[in-house]
Amino acid sequence: MAKRTSLHGLWSSRMAFILAVSGSAVGLGNIWKFPYVAGANGGGAFVLFYLLCVALIGLPIMMAEILIGRRGRRNPVATMRIVGEEEGSRPSWALVGIMGVIAGIIILSFYSVIAGWSLSYIAHAALNRFEGADADLVNGLFGGMLGNWKVLAFWHTLFMIITVWVVARGVERGLERAVRFLMPSLAVLMVALLGYAIINGDFRAGAAFLLEPDFSKLTGEAMLAALGQAFFSLSIGMGAIMAYGAYLPEGTSITNTSISVVIADTAMALLAGLAIFPIVFAHAMDPAAGPGLIFQTLPLAFGNMVGGHLFGTLFFVLLTFAAWTSSIGLIEPAVAWSVETHGRSRAAAATVIGVIIWALGFLTILSFNEFEHIKLFGRTLFENLDHLSSNIMLPLGGLFITVFAGWVMCKNSTAEELDLGTGTAYRLWRFLARWVAPAAVLLVFLHATGLLHFFGITTS
Ligand code: PHE
Repeated sequence: MAKRTSLHGLWSSRMAFILAVSGSAVGLGNIWKFPYVAGANGGGAFVLFYLLCVALIGLPIMMAEILIGRRGRRNPVATMRIVGEEEGSRPSWALVGIMGVIAGIIILSFYSVIAGWSLSYIAHAALNRFEGADADLVNGLFGGMLGNWKVLAFWHTLFMIITVWVVARGVERGLERAVRFLMPSLAVLMVALLGYAIINGDFRAGAAFLLEPDFSKLTGEAMLAALGQAFFSLSIGMGAIMAYGAYLPEGTSITNTSISVVIADTAMALLAGLAIFPIVFAHAMDPAAGPGLIFQTLPLAFGNMVGGHLFGTLFFVLLTFAAWTSSIGLIEPAVAWSVETHGRSRAAAATVIGVIIWALGFLTILSFNEFEHIKLFGRTLFENLDHLSSNIMLPLGGLFITVFAGWVMCKNSTAEELDLGTGTAYRLWRFLARWVAPAAVLLVFLHATGLLHFFGITTS
């Protein structure tokens, strides 16, 4: 079959692709979200279930996304349609791409607000506001920021501007450079923070909370949260990785790339958790404090360590960069789709979509102050946007993607893309993609909605 070529250029090397995909995967999801979601869901058992989801569902779906993306070489909407038709199925597979575009828009709308928190903490850290910090001081700083929607709007706007700016400049120029040094630097900084936590925090309590499973805490909701977190953290289920796969040169190993990215992403999340919980317990803070967790714990560490002024500033700079390289992945499916279907320039597409996302961001901003009391299904607006996109749309998208790769695409096509031959490794992938991943996602969905119970199946 004649291969299609990408309309947006290709990654210059295998390394560039790995960097872009890990840049997309490693972000606020690892450092901000993983610790607070793990904390809110009871720790150990959640973490264990999360790791299972990453290995058995996340990895095969990441491989599926990349291989579909490279085969289609278009934006996720067109790719799903084209590859679907090629495999003798319906064009309506495009709907999966559309859901992904929408999920990306929703996620970025709140992601950018949180990235704005990180930006504002660069300023706090640089101005040495954490010096000698105690719990009151950090809570005051955080609460002061959260309570003022104008402050949140300012930083959110700034973050959206830098995101649109880099996306407008195009794939290879925009993405490759930033990730190369920043990811390793962030990893080094996290290791240093872990060192601080071991020496000065309550490391025993923190590690026990994170690593010793208490299965009575693993409710259906917690399992769904772990599944959603796995999708969110790996950037899968919405076409971000598919869009990146579209720019992947032939002959690059999809399997090796996926494995490296999954390991790096998971290591980063565990590192963040292990660095943060010892500080939480040493200061008798609440592990279930919610989205403010790292913003209320890390400044305590920075404020009381030697070199914390510089170290804290650097940390929030790198965290912002990590968020930045992820936000590019969140907007890329929508931008690529708009460029290809409406013939817009990248700059125009990125601007229009950026403005929509920016406006949507106000729902999240206001849900921390003016609209704090507005609850739907017992959740704030932000929590609803997060739950809908991360815990429902991403796993649902991933379910369709893995069914597509495992059942719609023929063996020849997937084997050709994965280039694993037809030996054990390929058979293992196909088994996970066809059976394990779809069944697991469905079971977690059913369990969380109480339907398993309804069918008379009891789990615990
Ligand atoms: N994986 C990113 C993070 O952990 C978030 C993300 C999700 C990015 C989906 C792209 C697509 O921060």
